[in-house]
Amino acid sequence: MAHTIVIFGASGDLTSRKLIPALYELFRRKRLPENTRIVGASRSPLSDVNWRDQLADTTSKFLKETFDLETWKQFSQAMFYQPLDIEQPADFGKLSAKLAELEGGLPADRVYYVATMPQLYPTAVAHLGEAGLANDQLGARRIVIEKPFGTDLATARELNQSIHRAFREDQVFRIDHYLGKETVQNIMVLRFGNSIFEPLWNRNYIDHVQITVAEEVLVGRRAAYYDNSGILRDMFQNHIFQLMMVVAMEAPVKYNADCVRDEKVKVLRAVRPLHGSDFANCGVRGQYEGYAKEEGVRPNSPTETFAALKLSIDNWRWNGVPFYLRSGKGMSCRTTQIVIDFKQPPHLVFSGGRESTPEANRLVIQIQPAEGIQVHFQSKVPDQGMKLCTSLLDFSFNKASNGQAGPDAYQRLLQDALQGDASLFARSDEVEMAWRIIDPIIAAWRSPAAPDLYTYPLSMWGPEFSTQWLDDQSRSWFDVCPVIS
Ligand code: BG6
Repeated sequence: MAHTIVIFGASGDLTSRKLIPALYELFRRKRLPENTRIVGASRSPLSDVNWRDQLADTTSKFLKETFDLETWKQFSQAMFYQPLDIEQPADFGKLSAKLAELEGGLPADRVYYVATMPQLYPTAVAHLGEAGLANDQLGARRIVIEKPFGTDLATARELNQSIHRAFREDQVFRIDHYLGKETVQNIMVLRFGNSIFEPLWNRNYIDHVQITVAEEVLVGRRAAYYDNSGILRDMFQNHIFQLMMVVAMEAPVKYNADCVRDEKVKVLRAVRPLHGSDFANCGVRGQYEGYAKEEGVRPNSPTETFAALKLSIDNWRWNGVPFYLRSGKGMSCRTTQIVIDFKQPPHLVFSGGRESTPEANRLVIQIQPAEGIQVHFQSKVPDQGMKLCTSLLDFSFNKASNGQAGPDAYQRLLQDALQGDASLFARSDEVEMAWRIIDPIIAAWRSPAAPDLYTYPLSMWGPEFSTQWLDDQSRSWFDVCPVIS
């Protein structure tokens, strides 16, 4: 079967930075199905050749050493451009004619990738539907929607409703690029491809779970978007919740889209809603020093660039095990890590006073930029009686793959969309449940009863209060920059 990928927003940033480099890489690695063509659509008046040339420059810039001009020439022969204004229904008729011409009137599976400004998603979907482009009699018709998927529950619901007027849910692929990361998929393999972790993966052995997504970068050119969004919408509702679901879910009956997503959504359903004083006690708000002076940020902006949340998952596995989630911009280093903190041994037999209390076992799952897994366990300090120290067992993806960098998340996600596998995409109920948890927190944090917004200096782990907040709960953050090389 032939394939056609149509990219709306073809002259935009995402197309040049991520989509075309990922498709080129799939082609270079012989992972792109044969007979696949790519059609770019946007308002810019470009010809096929202009579009190819523009993207040759940007792709070589982003990919550097894996870019090769000969391979690009072969790849780009299957790239075409169609000027299109999303607001103009007639343009979709022209697009339909162009696609039929390129496909020679033969059946072909199509993926429509909506990489435009989010305000245009409902219009794009409606016009695709009206032009008959969602009709799958001549091959599959799938639609990929970029994030953000709504800005709250109401807008996400509206967007789902608009999409469902044109496409069935099984045709819809909502992107969360965290799910395309190899290390995130590996959490499922760690949990469900081994038997040694599962017996420990519950309230009997785990004290708490920490999920940290720290970034060094500041808001930069995205300040205007960011100031309306803030960290809870930008990182928690999507990426961090995805990580939490993968850590907390039950084993799916099978590895397929419905079984995996059924289990993930149950995690969100079990998250205990916050009430009253919880909004202040179960979270920390922060803003990096100098944020308010960034161009595009409102004076006295209340927007958080850092947040920490304590959530409880009310089910048999996780009862009493807090999940501490945190993310921030302008932090010490770029690191995404999940820390499973185990309970102390039930009885300490090695005497020597309080200072000899061993550190509890820990499993550190390093998502990026280091990619690997580390087990912290106690061993004996040689020749010093029964003094204990923490020792480490490391697994590094980098070493396991002989230093070969893993594929970018978009390669995997595009390949799955082409094959119709939605396991690594968010389902409508998942997205709505996530907003259902986040919305009340944002509302409370914008109300007069909002907890204090702490300013934090750059290159730290967020506000000092965040450290104290966890200390007060007799726990401490794993504030360590990437631990695995
Ligand atoms: C995006 C957010 O979705 O994810 C950005 O909008 C953030 O603010 C980015 O920087 C982080 O992605 P990654 O893959 O670099 O961790």
